[in-house]
Amino acid sequence: MGHAHHRNKSKTMTNKNYLWSDEDNQSIDAELMDFMAGADIKLDKHLFVFDIIATQAHIGGLKTINILSQDEYQSLYDCLSKLKGLYERGEFRLDSTYEDGHSAIEFYLTQQLGDLGKKSHTGRSRNDQVLTCSRLFMKHNLFSIKDLCINLAKQLLALSEQHKNTAMPGYTHLQRAMPNTVGVWLAGFAESLIDDSYLLHSTINYINSSPLGTAAGFGVPLNLPREQVANELGFERVQINPVYAQNSRGKFELVVLQSLYQVMLNIRRFSWDLSLFMTQEFNFISLDKSHTTGSSIMPNKSNPDVVELMRASLSIIEGGMAQIQALISLPSGYQRDLQMSKEPMIKGVLLTKQVLKLMPALIKALKFNKDIMANAISSEMMATDQALLQVKDGMSFRDAYGEAKSQPSEMSYQQSLNDRVSLGGAANLGLEHLYKRLDEMR
Ligand code: ARG
Repeated sequence: MGHAHHRNKSKTMTNKNYLWSDEDNQSIDAELMDFMAGADIKLDKHLFVFDIIATQAHIGGLKTINILSQDEYQSLYDCLSKLKGLYERGEFRLDSTYEDGHSAIEFYLTQQLGDLGKKSHTGRSRNDQVLTCSRLFMKHNLFSIKDLCINLAKQLLALSEQHKNTAMPGYTHLQRAMPNTVGVWLAGFAESLIDDSYLLHSTINYINSSPLGTAAGFGVPLNLPREQVANELGFERVQINPVYAQNSRGKFELVVLQSLYQVMLNIRRFSWDLSLFMTQEFNFISLDKSHTTGSSIMPNKSNPDVVELMRASLSIIEGGMAQIQALISLPSGYQRDLQMSKEPMIKGVLLTKQVLKLMPALIKALKFNKDIMANAISSEMMATDQALLQVKDGMSFRDAYGEAKSQPSEMSYQQSLNDRVSLGGAANLGLEHLYKRLDEMR
């Protein structure tokens, strides 16, 4: 490697691999460097493969404009593929001997290929490099999260169909209101997840532009084939303006978290319902042993910790949004502050994916205690249906309301549910409309 290694003379001396090191600043303080890059290099582990792929596309662009010969391109390309393989097999360690993943790539290429490696960074900056690999990471994961939402919606629709006749009390203000079914309750989450899949789809479109080639935020004196590189990386378009490219850092991370917020809001509400319905007081739903944990002191306990952690996960997304919102109060262009948008974004994305992956098994572990739910439907809950029955015989609703209030209803909850024919209600779930929206998405 052409890079000079100096032995540590003291604690404040480093012998690390910094692209910008020269004789004047070989001795940057280790704690200072740790503050600036210590946490960041750990986060780059999630971006590294995307960074390698983006580098392969970038050198393809350099070949097109004859900065690299075909042979040079091929050697660099193969070397990057090798690095990717090594990294994926855990044989290349991305650690704090590097300032970041970006420089690790250049050092590796230079170590392997000598002077040729030093050509790889031509016409780009770490500023557009980090934008590109972060965006690829977000896109990749938004696609997975969208698929997970769709699958979860499908599972809930199937379960809704299965429980279309499973009666449960419906609540407003957490007070008994009208009879409902497990089918209606579950299809509500399915429909919301379908809407959120569309939201994720539009968020993917929103961020689907290639910042690569904007370099430090001003472009470069080379006619980089930006469209070719964008295509190669699967971006739908080029992000044209180099100042905007820099200004979209944090802004795009925020829109991603905002979309995930909508997704995770479903999870919070569903978890809340579950934890309520799993109390001994309700006992509408039981959780299979495979999903409960015990207490260290109370031998009698069997707790739904997983449900509570799923409910809590939204707070991480919300906190991350607040962090990024506070962070992007900045002037135009690259500022190192923007580095701190990385952690909340990566954390939020990975947590959302983790939760959505665990949901299907959790749902399978639910047991609906049908008799207990049916017994919790008391006769006064049929009052609204009773009133509307009178309306069918010609009485005004307000008079019928008054009568139903004074005379207890004789109606059964089965009758109430059988009569709930308005679209979406217990007797007319309208699941076919929801399946259709799912089909139209693809
Ligand atoms: N780790 C840096 C970040 O996330 C990479 C870009 C560094 N650019 C710079 N001009 N120092 O922002």
